[in-house]
Amino acid sequence: MRILRGKDYGEMSLLAARIMAAKILSNPSCVLGLATGSTPIGLYDKLVKWNEEGILDFSKVTTVNLDEYKGLTPDNDQSYRYFMNTHLFDRVNIRKDHTFVPDGTEKDEEKACADYNRILEEVGPADIQLLGIGRNGHIGFNEPGDAFIPLTHSVQLTESTIEANSRFFATLEEVPKKAYTMGMKTILNAKTVLIVASGKDKAQAVHDAFEGPVTPACPASVLQLHSDVVLAADEDALSLM
Ligand code: GLP
Repeated sequence: MRILRGKDYGEMSLLAARIMAAKILSNPSCVLGLATGSTPIGLYDKLVKWNEEGILDFSKVTTVNLDEYKGLTPDNDQSYRYFMNTHLFDRVNIRKDHTFVPDGTEKDEEKACADYNRILEEVGPADIQLLGIGRNGHIGFNEPGDAFIPLTHSVQLTESTIEANSRFFATLEEVPKKAYTMGMKTILNAKTVLIVASGKDKAQAVHDAFEGPVTPACPASVLQLHSDVVLAADEDALSLM
C-alpha cells in the first residue's frame, strides 16, 4: 500500500485527485469506480476544475458507482445518483448513459442486484476504484459482518452508519435503512484502489483497516489483500497509524 499524506483535507483531495486524473489521461476510455460521501467532494471539485481548464476529458470515460439507498429516486437530493450528478456528472463532459449507479427505485432486491451485476460484468473491472471509509470500517455499504460478500447485494444499514449519515437528512427517521452495494470481489477486481480519509473520526477505522487483522468485522481490511492500494489521507485520519 502507498500512503499519500496531506496536511489537511484540501491537500489530501489534491493528492487523490492527481491519481484519478493520471488514470484518465493515460487511458481516456477508462472505467472509474466512484464513491459518494463528504470525503470525495474536494477530489471531484479538482476533477471538474481540470475539465473546465481543458486538461481532463471525460467524453470516453465510463463510471460505476459503489452503492445507492434503497427507495430513493434519482431526483431525491439524498440519493447517490443525485449526489453524483450534482458533484461531478453535470459539471463535466461525461456521457450520462456511460454512468451507472444501482437502481434504488427497484423494490425487488434480487432483481436490483442482478441488474447491477450484469452492468458491472459488461463494463468490466474498474481501472481505479475510489472508496471512502465509514467510521466502522465500511466500504461502499459493505457493513461489518461475518463474511465478505462478493457481489452486489442489499444491506441492512447498521445503527452507526444510519447515525453517521443522518447529518444529511432532516430527521434520523428519514435515513433509509437499506441500500444496494457493490460487493468485495468487484471492489478487489479493480486494477487500482484509491481510498480517501479525512478527520480524527476516521483515524480508528483507518488504523484497523490497514494495521489490524483482515476480517469482515472491519470490511476495509480486505484491501490488505489487494496489490495496488493508495491511501490518501490527512494528518488527522493518519494519527493512529
Ligand atoms: C456512506 C457511503 C460510503 C462512504 C461513507 C463515508 O456510508 N456509502 O461509500 O465512504 O458514507 O462517508 P463520509 O466520507 O461522508 O464520511
